[in-house]
Amino acid sequence: MAQTSGNQETQMDDVAERIEITVDGRAVEVETGQLLPDALEAAGLYLPHLCYHPSLGPLQTCDTCFVEVDGNLVRGCGVTVKPGLEVGLDTDTAERARREGIDRVVSNHDLYCSVCDNNNGNCDVHNTVRDMQVPGQRYEFRGKPYEKDYSNPFYIYDPDQCILCGRCVEACQNLQVNETLSIDWDRDRPRVIWDDDVAIEDSSCVSCGHCVTVCPCNALMEKTAIGRMGPMTALSPQSLSGYRELGRAAIDLVKTAEHTTGFGPIFAVSEVDAAMRETELKRTKTVCTYCGVGCSFEMWTRGRELLKVQPQPEAPANGVSTCIKGKFGWGHINSEHRLTKPLIRDNGAFREAEWDEAYALIARRFGEIRGESGPDSLAFIASSKCTNEEAYLMQKLARAVIGTNNIDNCSRYCQAPATESLWRTVGFGADTGSIADLEAAELLLIVGSNTAESHPVIATRMKRAAKLHGQKHIVADLRVNEMAERADLHIRPEPGTDLIWLNAVAKYILDNGHADMDFINDHVDCFEDYRDSLAKFTFEFAAERTGLSQDELQAIADNIIAAKTVCGVWAMGVTQHTMGADTATALCNLLVLTGNVERFGTGGYPMRGHNNVQGTSDFGCMPDRLPGYDFITDDGIRRQYEQAWGVDLTTRKGLNNHEMVNTIHDGDLRSLYVIGEDMGIVDSDALHVQSAFEKLDFFVVQDIFFTRTCEFADVVLPASPSVEKEGTFTNTERRIQRLYEVFPPLGDSRPDWRIITELANALGADWRYDHPSEIMAESTSLCDLMSGVTYERLAGFGSQQWPVREKGASGAERLYNDSTFHFKDGNARFHPVDWTEPTDQVDAEYDLHLNNGRLLEHFHEGNLTDETPGIVFKISQAFVEVSPDLAAERGVQPGSIVRLVSRRGAIKVAVEVTDRVSGHQLYMPMHGRANSEAINVLTSFEADKDTDTPAYKELAVRMEVLSADGTPPLKANNQRNQPRHPTSGVEVGRKWDRDDYRRPPKPRPTGSGL
Ligand code: SF4
Ligand code: SF4
Ligand code: SF4
Ligand code: FES
Repeated sequence: MAQTSGNQETQMDDVAERIEITVDGRAVEVETGQLLPDALEAAGLYLPHLCYHPSLGPLQTCDTCFVEVDGNLVRGCGVTVKPGLEVGLDTDTAERARREGIDRVVSNHDLYCSVCDNNNGNCDVHNTVRDMQVPGQRYEFRGKPYEKDYSNPFYIYDPDQCILCGRCVEACQNLQVNETLSIDWDRDRPRVIWDDDVAIEDSSCVSCGHCVTVCPCNALMEKTAIGRMGPMTALSPQSLSGYRELGRAAIDLVKTAEHTTGFGPIFAVSEVDAAMRETELKRTKTVCTYCGVGCSFEMWTRGRELLKVQPQPEAPANGVSTCIKGKFGWGHINSEHRLTKPLIRDNGAFREAEWDEAYALIARRFGEIRGESGPDSLAFIASSKCTNEEAYLMQKLARAVIGTNNIDNCSRYCQAPATESLWRTVGFGADTGSIADLEAAELLLIVGSNTAESHPVIATRMKRAAKLHGQKHIVADLRVNEMAERADLHIRPEPGTDLIWLNAVAKYILDNGHADMDFINDHVDCFEDYRDSLAKFTFEFAAERTGLSQDELQAIADNIIAAKTVCGVWAMGVTQHTMGADTATALCNLLVLTGNVERFGTGGYPMRGHNNVQGTSDFGCMPDRLPGYDFITDDGIRRQYEQAWGVDLTTRKGLNNHEMVNTIHDGDLRSLYVIGEDMGIVDSDALHVQSAFEKLDFFVVQDIFFTRTCEFADVVLPASPSVEKEGTFTNTERRIQRLYEVFPPLGDSRPDWRIITELANALGADWRYDHPSEIMAESTSLCDLMSGVTYERLAGFGSQQWPVREKGASGAERLYNDSTFHFKDGNARFHPVDWTEPTDQVDAEYDLHLNNGRLLEHFHEGNLTDETPGIVFKISQAFVEVSPDLAAERGVQPGSIVRLVSRRGAIKVAVEVTDRVSGHQLYMPMHGRANSEAINVLTSFEADKDTDTPAYKELAVRMEVLSADGTPPLKANNQRNQPRHPTSGVEVGRKWDRDDYRRPPKPRPTGSGL
């Protein structure tokens, strides 16, 4: 594995120690610390194994990997190599034991490979049976007396095919840590069960797909794959198509032949079948289009069909992990709602147009408006769902072609305060470390982050660290979200008061001599100012304002003091306030105070929201900054760009998103070009934003769907989603990854980089980009921070973490671990902050606080995820969470319809009664695309005083009951309402303790199903 240390940006290979072991009397060199299957494979030797998966570790359930070690028969997957180890691999005893193991596996698995959707060259069961040259069925195959489970919209479980390896259980219990699956070893015929043996859809399963991804056979399969992978697989017994019985008959016929021929000829046919599939199947690596975790995986496709998403262990951010959206949420790709032709508004109605006409119209109108009112009468909003290359082009279009700095992106809606806080204290506006640091910390301080729903794969790492390694979690959140439910300490401060308790805890730590004064004295500026600023933040003051008890404050402080390594994690619960940047700064100050910003397992981690919200800012889509966060006012840097682009650039102050809306209302901004951003419904105070759009003289929207924002446009340009383009995304840990074209653009849609290029040329530029790699090369030639980024280094699952200045280097896993912070003097800084009252507070008329945020299943307003039927099947409508107390007080129940009225607007929404919220606090997911249901009809235009990020979380409403009865918005079996069933994992000891289990090579007793 390539690793980099701090700012050195050098690529160093981990120098793993080479040691010698003996295999069947021969000296073999292996890497120390490896498990035997991996060590032998690397040495070119084959040790069969089935339940072992490198991402899960040894499970020891399948008994196919026996070896003799130092004369004892042991399961090889449980052996870690060490110097002098003596392994008997091909000994008679070991071979007999392995053979007994695989014979038992095959008795639990019906081999019908040629009609099996898993026969694609990578079926572990198939390959192991083939490679072990199993001649035929020794123990008769007997199906299990259970129905196949088709209840989940995305995947099936077929007990007959389940070999009881437990990979799925380990993945669910200890990698995803949703704790739904177990194997019921106590039954006559064991099987995997969901919770306490309910149907999948009635369980706590969150449809993350981990189990499906790691299953070594077709016992767990994606429904999109079933009946579609091979020429004959519609005949599979698992088929959804109704040919199942026909298929079963065909299989039985083949099985009859198999009794005389053995597996040989049958396998020969299935190998040919698998090879034939290869000619049609395409496997393409891509990066997820949803949140900022940056999961990468392969997409398996045939033509325009997405057959399945297959994560790979080598994916740097996620390994084999995904969430429901990354694994299954791709219905938008081939949706009939996709825009496939440019649209031009003619006499109030849209008509389809050709690209040339659309470009000509935009060029003419942009030119006219710039001529009449100057370049600053136009503004540009880039998309955080687009690539780095597209971000670079968008800011180049604004600056070099139009001549304005009116360019921004949606980090303004959530991330800008976090970036500001890191700029203030440590220098770089990005996560100080990597996901690995979050896994390694002793304590996570999670503030205003619903991590399990908003950044689900990072949450899996946190939950795993807590479950397996005793990591402690303090969660500050108004709601009992999953992280809060699992936390060691969950605090619920009054809305908008996080800054107070953070400062109070800092004061306590400082006053009681627990600050890291050595670190502060050597590496931090502005200490006295900070110390003085904390004077008023006593525990008494904090308890009074936050509603927390002094015991809770004490417990927070004690935990931080006791932990050697602490990471601060925060998200929109912190940033979307009028004092968002200051609250984030208070958290950063606390981390600096305790010396938790530079070492492994420490640091500040704002959870980036969109897939490329980090990269869109990194590559210059900000009104005052060029790529790499260089200021447009820096004469030296600006001249480099002027020279490269052949234009003079303006240093006039540009507008951010928020300012753009008000400037439209003022009449000074006449034209707007928005890419991939449904501003009309996701910006706060949506009615104010929509009325601004109505005032624009010329409005261009580029998107993949006809969004609410498109309704106000003069021209709508059909773009391509991530899977129809090439380029790079940057995840929350500054990790740049390549995505490859999975499908060609649908219809007449085009990748955004191509549209921006063609539009620039229509406006008189002479851009000649034929591939995004050329755009990246230009950008990195100008941007010091990214100067070492190369497409070659990013090939496949490769990645680089900025800053990366040496060509092809890995970059920096941690930004500051040599104690050099990103300021001129190299020191970090305290930045004193004070508390201000939140806006839009509750009063007699608007008496309820309405919190809001993401849902696991949907992404934001739902433009993408509403196109996946399985997701809509799970959650189909907006809803508001009401506490049981408030429900009783107001006479509402699940399904009641209420009108929520704020000081700006009103919406109608169904009630979900839940103790996730308490008292007079409500919670509403941001899912909703119509004015009648969208949260932002209610939110205000108040914004963070430092960054203009809207104060989405400062919102008071009143609730009017329209109808006491109705259909509950969440189905009764929704996973949120089902208790999880934690276990230590697959619990193989329960298998070994069974009366009918005999340790191989002993044969199993007659009648045993194991
Ligand atoms: S899962 Fe399918 S391909 Fe694999 S061994 Fe079983 S029948 Fe064959
Ligand atoms: S939560 Fe559901 S999909 Fe995810 S691993 Fe567990 S059982 Fe499988
Ligand atoms: S369903 Fe689970 S236990 Fe069964 S074969 Fe698949 S991974 Fe193994
Ligand atoms: S691989 Fe070792 S017991 Fe399964």
